[in-house]
Amino acid sequence: MPKNPDRVHREVVSYVRRSARMNASQRKAWDTLADRWVVPVPPRQTSTSIAPDAAVDWAAVFGRTAPLVVEIGPGRGESLVALAERHPELDIVAFEVFEPAVASALSRAARHGVPNVRFVVANGAEGLERLFGPGHVHELWTFFPDPWHKARHHKRRLVGPDLADLAVSRLGASGRWRLATDWPDYADWMRATLDAHPGLENEHAGWAPRWAERPVTKYEARGLAAGRTIRDLTYRRRP
Ligand SMILES: C[S@@+](CC[C@H](N)C(=O)[O-])C[C@H]1O[C@@H](n2cnc3c(N)ncnc32)[C@H](O)[C@@H]1O
Repeated sequence: MPKNPDRVHREVVSYVRRSARMNASQRKAWDTLADRWVVPVPPRQTSTSIAPDAAVDWAAVFGRTAPLVVEIGPGRGESLVALAERHPELDIVAFEVFEPAVASALSRAARHGVPNVRFVVANGAEGLERLFGPGHVHELWTFFPDPWHKARHHKRRLVGPDLADLAVSRLGASGRWRLATDWPDYADWMRATLDAHPGLENEHAGWAPRWAERPVTKYEARGLAAGRTIRDLTYRRRP
């Protein structure tokens, strides 16, 4: 018998589980807008996990069948909302674990009136695995993921071999994974890991040109101000 059978098994995740206190405007945004844009999903043990048998009918949620994009970690939704507005032909599902950030993103989504975005407050790696079938995802976006600098924390990095395996299984034929980071060692790690993956092909055989449609977010601006080079990467799933 385990010492404490009620103890929740905590996996290594790419984010810090922290109390999510919203400011007044975020609370108001959440209360008025979450019903419209946040898709509730049953959790497993922790609040950011997803039950293994959870399922979402995305065509019913969006009211149409359109190419599905998954963004993991949109933060305050700066890229997400701008890209959703530019691409009305896509339906974008954004997984973000930090509720106050989602609340800010909801305000932005409402200001821009984008109908083709939904949020799930949960770990995006689990969401990609559990809420999408093999080959159902048109594009995967991971922009400026938390860098986890220390070597002992590298296992927490979102982008790595496990997410690569999952991406390959969920992307459709010639589906695309777009990434960006301002941290040189993470950029090198992403490129080395994904270049080595047999299911992925680097679209540019090296660094990708900056995706011009992607707006400069707070994180990119911070990296630029600190003199760091922004690296974009794009991979295609091998057919
Ligand atoms: C450094 S911020 C970047 C935000 C945004 N992509 C941008 O470029 O401005 C990383 C975000 O990813 C979220 N995050 C980290 N791991 C996640 C995961 N596994 N699932 C969902 N969100 C995650 C964090 O809460 C944070 O908001």
